[in-house]
Amino acid sequence: MTPSTAMVLVPASLLAAFVALAAATPAERPAYVIHEQRDTPARGFVKVGPAPPSKQLTLRIALKPNNIAGLEEELYAVSDPKSARYGKHLTLDEACRQIRKAYHGGTFCCDTLQFTVPVSQASSILNAEFASFTHPSRNETTIRTLQYSLPADLSGHVAYVHPTTSFTNPFAAPKIEPYDIKRKREMDPSCADLTTVSCLVEEMSLPKGPATQKENVLGITGFANQFANYNDLKDFLAKFRPEMPSSTKFDVQLIDKGSNTQQVIFSTRIRDFAGLEASLDIQYSVGVANGIPVRFISVGPMYNDELGGFLDQVNTLIADDARPTVLSTSYGFDEQDLTFPVADGLCNAYLQLGALGTSVVTSSGDGGVGGYASYCDAFVPTAPSSCPWVTSVGSSQTVLENFTKNFSQIATSFSSGGFSNYFKAPTYQKADVGAYVATVNGYEGLYNKNGRGIPDVSAQGVNFPTLVAARWHLVDGTSASTPVFASVIAFLNDELITAGRPPLGFLNPLLYSPAGRAALEDVSVGNNPGCGTYGFNATAGWDPVTGLGVPNYAKLRKAVGLA
Ligand SMILES: *[C@@H]1O[C@H](CO)[C@@H](O)[C@H](O)[C@H]1NC(C)=O
Ligand SMILES: *[C@@H]1O[C@H](CO)[C@@H](O)[C@H](O)[C@H]1NC(C)=O
Ligand SMILES: *[C@@H]1O[C@H](CO)[C@@H](O)[C@H](O)[C@H]1NC(C)=O
Ligand SMILES: *[C@@H]1O[C@H](CO)[C@@H](O)[C@H](O)[C@H]1NC(C)=O
Repeated sequence: MTPSTAMVLVPASLLAAFVALAAATPAERPAYVIHEQRDTPARGFVKVGPAPPSKQLTLRIALKPNNIAGLEEELYAVSDPKSARYGKHLTLDEACRQIRKAYHGGTFCCDTLQFTVPVSQASSILNAEFASFTHPSRNETTIRTLQYSLPADLSGHVAYVHPTTSFTNPFAAPKIEPYDIKRKREMDPSCADLTTVSCLVEEMSLPKGPATQKENVLGITGFANQFANYNDLKDFLAKFRPEMPSSTKFDVQLIDKGSNTQQVIFSTRIRDFAGLEASLDIQYSVGVANGIPVRFISVGPMYNDELGGFLDQVNTLIADDARPTVLSTSYGFDEQDLTFPVADGLCNAYLQLGALGTSVVTSSGDGGVGGYASYCDAFVPTAPSSCPWVTSVGSSQTVLENFTKNFSQIATSFSSGGFSNYFKAPTYQKADVGAYVATVNGYEGLYNKNGRGIPDVSAQGVNFPTLVAARWHLVDGTSASTPVFASVIAFLNDELITAGRPPLGFLNPLLYSPAGRAALEDVSVGNNPGCGTYGFNATAGWDPVTGLGVPNYAKLRKAVGLA
């Protein structure tokens, strides 16, 4: 087969090339090159033996985009407040044309090719050794390979084939403890001991609402088949937002056979709280963003992206004209669980979503510099926070200064942060990363000094009373901070749209601008231990613990020109 430009533009011909490979005998095959490889499986996975040769495997082939650099330029053009085109977000067609020069409509711009073959044939097409891996918290085996190859002339056109070398660990749950809401805790009646909705509203000087725009949807991501319970929300609002109507609900969008059974299953095993993350995220978005339409976007178990559903979700939203203006995602991976091409493919999808005008807000993780890993030799950046086209949120907490009535924000020790090993520091952040790295004592070889810095911002992240299956818990985590930050942005969008202006879209060029920084309260106390170290220090200015700081709504209004 001869390489040709036409081939990559017409997926059918690429598919035909793979079908021909499947039919060819090994002797007839062209020269192969290694396309992706890793030394060991991801954390927690153990190889148990070769994969059963007759087991069917659905291979998905992600094509290399033509012009991601062009789409990046477009993203900056519509997201940088200094740009003449600020706020003029792209249409789906415009975004697709950047990715595929010969795009003629349809959904293929965001899509991949796929076909199903037995393991034996997949091994032969990809020159790979597929094996079965087990994981302590999974019942089924996972079929992966540590290396695969492609014909030299196809390799340049293919971003990645999966499932192959990327592994996705089960999602971590936020930290919780049972909480007896009727018993008065030994506590100051302040926000230092219990983070209620009114504390959040007061601390960030948020509007009390209700918001007015009906199309300004705040999307809340749900994975792992979780749903949020309507009755829990009702009781939560009655307790902490009595001024909101008791009929306040959220919409549900189901992807990949996600479920919303509303069945209440209670278990004392933390891992089995089916709805903990979902309940937290819904209660602190619906509750904080009073009047903003909230949509719970739940990805079920039938995802096809080998990324826990992340890519399926983004692709669904890219194709959805009624996509949210803000998407809050409180789930993540260790960056190293994914190979670079897979992490990059997901990041490119977020790039598209940003160019279309959605602010993507993700949690930085709860394991300090160790990310989600329980053991680490080097610091572990988290994904998708490491993607430069999302806004990553770390955690702060309120402390009373020396038992006076003064409060201040310090970093939480769990707030994950650090530097990507895959993505370099983007333009908007480069100077901050350089300045910070110059102050770090030691840690030589433990982190990438030129990497994209995580997180971008932070928000309150401890002691969130949350109702799960009719029982109260106190929850800590960047999982809590993320829907709170997303709610702040959703309120700004509500006011902007009311004023006849577009929603904010990709936030970082604004946040890192002088006006943006002035609207974030810097957090400069605390550090984020992990991997047997003290982690990084929060300092004046941007730092890899709390980013640029905690939002102040009144100041953000000014920053976006809502006088
Ligand atoms: C694994 O499967 C067994 C038997 O089917 C079941 O009892 C157990 O709860 C499952 N474990 C997990 C973690 O799903
Ligand atoms: C608390 O008081 C001590 C002694 O006066 C002082 O050194 C310290 O900086 C104070 N801490 C804060 C957070 O203000
Ligand atoms: C409390 O904060 C105010 C304003 O920042 C400051 O003037 C005052 O000295 C502080 N009080 C104490 C006891 O730290
Ligand atoms: C963090 O701050 C402490 C106290 O100032 C200092 O001793 C330490 O070296 C700093 N850590 C890093 C990584 O720079």
